[in-house]
Amino acid sequence: MPAEFEIAGHLEVRDGHLHIGDVDCVELAERFGTPLYVSNEQRIRQNIRTIQRAFPEAHLLYAVKANGNLAILRIVAQEGMGADVFSAGELYLALLARIPREKILFNGNSKSDHDLLAAVESGVMVSVDSEMEAERLSSIAHEHGSEVRIAFRVNPDISPMTHPNIATGLRSSKFGIPHEHVRRAYELAQSLPGIVPVGIHCHIGSQILSTEPFAEAVRRMMTLVEQVGELGIELEFVDIGSGLGIPYDKRVPAPSPSDLARAVLPIFREECERLGISPTLCLEPGRYVVADSTVLLVRVNTIKHAHASFVAVDAGFNLLVRPVMYDAYHHVVVANKADAPAAQKYTIVGPICESGDILAKDRWLPAIERGDVLAVLDTGAYGFSMSSQYNGRPRCAEVLVSNGRAELIRRAEGVDDLLANQLLPERLL
Ligand code: LLP
Repeated sequence: MPAEFEIAGHLEVRDGHLHIGDVDCVELAERFGTPLYVSNEQRIRQNIRTIQRAFPEAHLLYAVKANGNLAILRIVAQEGMGADVFSAGELYLALLARIPREKILFNGNSKSDHDLLAAVESGVMVSVDSEMEAERLSSIAHEHGSEVRIAFRVNPDISPMTHPNIATGLRSSKFGIPHEHVRRAYELAQSLPGIVPVGIHCHIGSQILSTEPFAEAVRRMMTLVEQVGELGIELEFVDIGSGLGIPYDKRVPAPSPSDLARAVLPIFREECERLGISPTLCLEPGRYVVADSTVLLVRVNTIKHAHASFVAVDAGFNLLVRPVMYDAYHHVVVANKADAPAAQKYTIVGPICESGDILAKDRWLPAIERGDVLAVLDTGAYGFSMSSQYNGRPRCAEVLVSNGRAELIRRAEGVDDLLANQLLPERLL
């Protein structure tokens, strides 16, 4: 039988319908059409404030990759967060959202000259991923007559105990310089014009459900801060990235920001005291800020009782790739029967021409009929931002709800968008 799932927080059930931020999901599906991403502004603000309360002295940089919608970035900016950007495109969006440039860190393991120049011209900080990149950035900044504040991204060689595709600080990972090379890298940076080493950076992975790997990362980072200090460089910040998991499956608890703070702050403070330094701690949360603020509404096209009871809906991995890519669990609620008892096990599949296009497997749900609206929960992070037009499917719209009001924050694409930028050579007309 199904595990009990309590709809809580900013989601609630009224008259049998799922509501988000005081708005009926079934009405949203009618009004805006499906598929539809719906985010709740108040939940995003609450999540940010929860992290800020847990880490009152830290600088928080929102990971734009999680959700780069401009309205959401404006909320992030209003709440005082900076940004971790991973491309010139994300940098453009963050600046457009009026996130101050001094609070932006340009990350990335494969930055082009164009990316480096964009960072230099906009005056943001850069997390440098290799010694070669330090040299390239130095010459671009020097030529431009600028001085760029940098951190090195370090590979701390720590297992975060998460899905292998989202572990980023293993020795075998492509990110960062090996921690054994840190002294050499900072020495190099000291000798190069146009760049000033002011920080150190790591990121061990994502959707991490234990605080221990973070504690280990902080210990490792502080030994590196000590080594860098021996070169006469007093670092202004130590950025431990992010990776805080959320309870997608309510039976699997996740640590809260204050659990994380309890695990890492004493180590950080003790080490700072031991070394007689006072750098700022930086964190780069993405998922925690936005994941649970959003539901993806989909409509049932067809039901087929075959090997399993397949419920075929109007979005699949074109709009939510996490289940396929990371075996990720997302809870599913029948939005128009949200308080009906579970009747049978269903497998929810998308419309994509691939057998792997499964959103949710073997879920106990109320009896489902054609036309029902399903809500896929916790889809605010790495949902829309990882979507595609695969199978000739235009991307869907995004709506922001705020205190009972719903506004479109991205129009649905149409077939014209499938043609955008395509050119037909004259001989093929
Ligand atoms: N900082 C850096 C340098 C990162 O690479 C990431 C995520 C973050 C911060 C934000 O981490 P978060 O707080 O969101 O865990 N698409 C995958 C997640 C990939 C994460 C990549 N880096 C997923 O859907 O689970």
